[in-house]
Amino acid sequence: MFKYLFAKGDDIPRGTAAVYFGISSIIWFVIGTGLGSFNAAKLAFPDFVTGSEFFSFGHMRQVHVMAVIFGWISMAFAMAMMYITPALGNTKLWSEKLGVWNCFLWNVGLSLALCLLWAGISSGREYSDFPWFIDIYVLAFIGIPLGLNVWMTVIKRRTQGIYTTNWFFAGAVFMVWIVLFVGNLPEYFQLTGLTEAYLTWWFAHNVLGLWITPVAAAIAYYTVPKITGNPLYSHRIGHLHFWSVVVFYSTPAAHHLMSSPLPEWLKSFASVEGVLILVPAIAFVSNLILTMTGKWHYFVDNVETKFTMTGVLLAIPLNMQGGFQQTRAINWYIHGTGWIVAHAHLALLGFSTFLEASAVYYGLQTIMRRKLYSLALANFHFWFLLIGFCTYWISMTIAGLIQGAAKIYEVPYIDTVIAEHPYMIARWVGGTMVFTGNCVWLYNMWMTAREGTLIPEGRLPHELAYER
Ligand code: HEM
Repeated sequence: MFKYLFAKGDDIPRGTAAVYFGISSIIWFVIGTGLGSFNAAKLAFPDFVTGSEFFSFGHMRQVHVMAVIFGWISMAFAMAMMYITPALGNTKLWSEKLGVWNCFLWNVGLSLALCLLWAGISSGREYSDFPWFIDIYVLAFIGIPLGLNVWMTVIKRRTQGIYTTNWFFAGAVFMVWIVLFVGNLPEYFQLTGLTEAYLTWWFAHNVLGLWITPVAAAIAYYTVPKITGNPLYSHRIGHLHFWSVVVFYSTPAAHHLMSSPLPEWLKSFASVEGVLILVPAIAFVSNLILTMTGKWHYFVDNVETKFTMTGVLLAIPLNMQGGFQQTRAINWYIHGTGWIVAHAHLALLGFSTFLEASAVYYGLQTIMRRKLYSLALANFHFWFLLIGFCTYWISMTIAGLIQGAAKIYEVPYIDTVIAEHPYMIARWVGGTMVFTGNCVWLYNMWMTAREGTLIPEGRLPHELAYER
């Protein structure tokens, strides 16, 4: 990477920024899930690594959350944007050099920010844990350069219209600028009380709703038609999806604070909007399932399609849960329990991670023009990720139901801890499977870059997947 930081823009090969973002995202996935496994071990085995505040759960939890969201997920998104946006516009990335600098400053800034959190220097606000000066760094050196590169590539496209994926990419980078600025206002202006609480969860909710959800979905709108050869079932449904995400997803942040003293009308409004999130969810899932018509054998035979469609199908339980768990009738039972942690991982480790993984697998092979070093290792990664995630989700959902019942029937705390303990161990086992699968993935992509069979000019990885 250093050799291209000061090179002339034209001397940087096409796809360089995307490759750097792709490899960086996998490394952060390994680091982030390793931290997750460490934290889960602390909850399953309370005597595990004690005696140092640096390894206390309070310090390590936020390092985990920010490493996987700003490292793995968002860098995988940047990688997808760097190679898919120009490909769909039949042009080249506006600036490879800006992309390489963006990746460099992103890795440096995130490493520094995580060290600060690890040392206990944080805003104390969940999901926006970074202190204010890091928030400004994220906006100035991460968000804006990424958005500029995507927007200018879309503007400089050599195609008539804008394909659904690029519509989502361009919309999401613009919306995330607003979320990064407005969501951190409490730190810039020392806002406190309910205003701070509301903006904290408006930020958390919209990082998921206006960044992670639309960009993950946009990847599926590219990989499924690209690999199966079927055109997208409906661009109209794609646009309905986009605008209903903007309208219905951006507004119900109050559903994270149903037990707080926020005005009741605001909570009712959020609950109704929260159920309406089913509109974009149904639009997305139905559009992709119909696009797969006649090509379901790819779901079994092709690694990238397997990852993509698993992500798409996980959007069904995710939005069903999301739509109903935030209504008053259910929220008072599950709020503050492991059910919410399970739901957060259904969204991030389930739905979005499988879609990002498909984009990184496909993108690195396409840009490096190298076939996967090992299909068996890729399938190993898929099954360890899926079984690990399911074990995590199911065990934490059950633990959440136990905690909810204990809360209502006022069961002594220690009895609750004893009752949920087997599920804490199961979550650790499941999460550690995910971490193990990711280590295998890093090795497989490293070997692909070094020894993968060269893909002839004009051919694509999925066309050669089963050729010796
Ligand atoms: C893409 C991968 C992942 C993402 C994006 C992710 C994200 C998150 C988020 C957002 C939270 C806060 C949840 C909340 O309080 O509502 C969280 C908590 C946590 N995660 Fe992950 N996670 C990932 C993978 C993992 C893995 C593989 C493990 C391993 C076991 C893990 C273990 C934990 C633990 C122990 C907590 C703390 C839960 C608590 O406070 O009770 N995570 N993670």
